Amino acid sequence: MKKIFFCIATMLSLVCSAQPAIEKGKTEVPDLSIITLETPDKTGGQPVWKVFANRQSVREFASDRLKPKDLSMLLWAANGVNRTDGRRTAPSAMNAQDVDIYVVTPEGAYIYDAKAHVLNPVAAGNFRDATGGGQGNINQAPVFLVLVSDLSRLTRGNNAPDEQTRLFGAMDAGIIAQNINLACASLGLATVTRTTMDKEALKKALNLKETQLLLLNNPVGYPKE
Ligand SMILES: Cc1cc2nc3c(=O)[nH]c(=O)nc-3n(C[C@H](O)[C@H](O)[C@H](O)COP(=O)(O)O)c2cc1C
Repeated sequence: MKKIFFCIATMLSLVCSAQPAIEKGKTEVPDLSIITLETPDKTGGQPVWKVFANRQSVREFASDRLKPKDLSMLLWAANGVNRTDGRRTAPSAMNAQDVDIYVVTPEGAYIYDAKAHVLNPVAAGNFRDATGGGQGNINQAPVFLVLVSDLSRLTRGNNAPDEQTRLFGAMDAGIIAQNINLACASLGLATVTRTTMDKEALKKALNLKETQLLLLNNPVGYPKE
């Protein structure tokens, strides 16, 4: 028996040592690295009343990439951690924190890790056509924030998601979308909350599980002159 264990352990260690070491900041997703976001500046900004006054849907974008600082502020405002107990800028039903933000750029898709305030690579490739879903030139936006509720966090894995669970997921995503809209209004960014997207293509691209519901997306960019 001991011999068999020894053989298995030796084989496992050989297999593991054959894997290439992952460099710091690199991941298993080829061509994409973890993006460390800047620390968000939580002071200053425009008065909230001015932000409400400026909030509007905009569907045309300059081609410029978002400045790292703007992307960091936007994601933190959307659903970042704002308290030491790990709670977030957006409320969620039963504090399930069920909504993940996928960030689609011309290079690939990332998922926002709010706790670490980093973007973790999901898949390399340009998924902006799938996210645009054929609506005008929206696929030209430099970045999309895609809101996905993992319903299994709401059911705590106890039962199959029902209608009420789906509604909770949709409400939680709607609140985050409005955080995005207001952050964009404050930062001078153009955006529009949308349900339009090629859901089948995106589910595949983002490698989503059955319990993950694609709900909304916000293309974001600087306003076109
Ligand atoms: C749930 C929801 C889904 C929407 N879906 C789309 C969409 O697929 N495409 C789009 O261009 N706008 C979409 N919109 C934006 C609305 O068309 C927009 O909010 C509305 O015309 C009012 O304009 P305003 O946002 O500038 O006030 C959506 C808005 C919401 C709240």
